[in-house]
Amino acid sequence: GVGALAACGDNTASTPGGASRPLQGPPLQATPQPGQKVVETTLTARESTVDLGGITARTWAYDDALPGKVIRANAGDFLRVALDNRLPADTSIHWHGIRLRNQADGVPGVTQDPIRPGGRFVYEFTAPDAGTHFFHPHVGAQLDRALYAPIIIDDPNEPGAYDAEWIVVLDDWTDGVGKNPDQILADFQAKTGPIKPGMDMGGMDHSSMPGMSSSRLGDAGDVVYPHYLINGRIPAAPTEFRAKPGQRIRLRIINAGSDTVFRVALGGHTLRVTHTDGHRVQDKQARALFVAMGERYDVTVTVGDGVFPLVAAAEGKNGQALAVLRTGSGAAPAPDVRPAELDGPVLLGATELAAADSARLPDREPDSTIKVALNGQMDPYAWGINGKKHGEDNPLTVGKGQRLRMQITNETMMLHPMHIHGHTWSLPGSAGLRKDTVLIKPMGSVEVDLDADNPGTWALHCHNIYHMEMGMMTTLKYT
Ligand code: C2O
Ligand code: CU
Repeated sequence: GVGALAACGDNTASTPGGASRPLQGPPLQATPQPGQKVVETTLTARESTVDLGGITARTWAYDDALPGKVIRANAGDFLRVALDNRLPADTSIHWHGIRLRNQADGVPGVTQDPIRPGGRFVYEFTAPDAGTHFFHPHVGAQLDRALYAPIIIDDPNEPGAYDAEWIVVLDDWTDGVGKNPDQILADFQAKTGPIKPGMDMGGMDHSSMPGMSSSRLGDAGDVVYPHYLINGRIPAAPTEFRAKPGQRIRLRIINAGSDTVFRVALGGHTLRVTHTDGHRVQDKQARALFVAMGERYDVTVTVGDGVFPLVAAAEGKNGQALAVLRTGSGAAPAPDVRPAELDGPVLLGATELAAADSARLPDREPDSTIKVALNGQMDPYAWGINGKKHGEDNPLTVGKGQRLRMQITNETMMLHPMHIHGHTWSLPGSAGLRKDTVLIKPMGSVEVDLDADNPGTWALHCHNIYHMEMGMMTTLKYT
């Protein structure tokens, strides 16, 4: 159990002094302050054999676990995480969603040197805000091998209006025995070329996805993706979560997949969405919701009596991930079970949610506005921002203390979940919704604001890891 029932708290985090601090610039100190709690752990990244449920795979993982073990701390704690790199390649760790000091952000070439094979790097930072996050390398397509784990920052002042908690990590796998994202990347690179001006309407088709104009959402290209995982398990051997009928459960849903948007539903239940990307929203009921790569949703459910499938269907592809909620007796669901909730109205995240009052940035007109156009196409396979691939791009700039508005326009026929490091956007078009990863529909656009309160140079990219690696990334630099 996770404590007594109480009104949901807000997003203020407690500082080492115990005072509540609003959402504003993160603590930048490199060492713990007197009295600050220090959470220490060590991770080893190495080649491992993982069991997906009767299928074993040789891959790269943290401490041989898939997902890696959860790191847990309270808002305001100081984290000291050592990474031992026993991989045959350079690596790093990015703390996805945490507003931390720039030097700990884990992007080789932007915030640190790569961690060489045999090397060790110690990440040290304060985690200012409560929330559901995860961590992964920021090198090539290593995220797509199995190098990821949740990091949960609890709010010590929020007792939590739930009895139990279930962390649900979604992933997509190319195959069970030889998953090799570098080969996938190489295949894409073989098809690369310039980003064409304008937009390629070829191959476009129409799906039932509300508000979407194309069903090629996952953008799998030539690659076949037969396995979808929840907490590292295939549907034939699903993870089982046990609770008692009538209990309130908090699900912390994380999409760690590299190339798949999931449609998630829990058979027999309605989801009450409470947070996205760690931040409180005005509670909203949903039968099903989309979770894009890099996004997190926290939902609560009051559980019935029986055995219920939690399904994450791969949008635009054939396949799904499955986990089981068991509160009573009954047979396990079939691997291809399709709860009716999945085909009900689907919550489209940012466009239908609003920030809780406690999570809002103070109202303010932007000091500057910049345009961020997403460009590219499947053939030749090339992706970029403002007409340039990363490496040939000019950084976006912002002055410290400014409120910056980005007008992100998707000029392609694919979905792009855009992710900002070191900051949390506020979406003026969604009642101030706070997010660090925003799914942008084909030909859609979204305005996002941020307060430039965390100096440094920060990555901004699509969280389709293949799009990012092929060029859909740039940086935001403080002038
Ligand atoms: Cu999880 Cu730069 O990303
Ligand atoms: Cu993309």
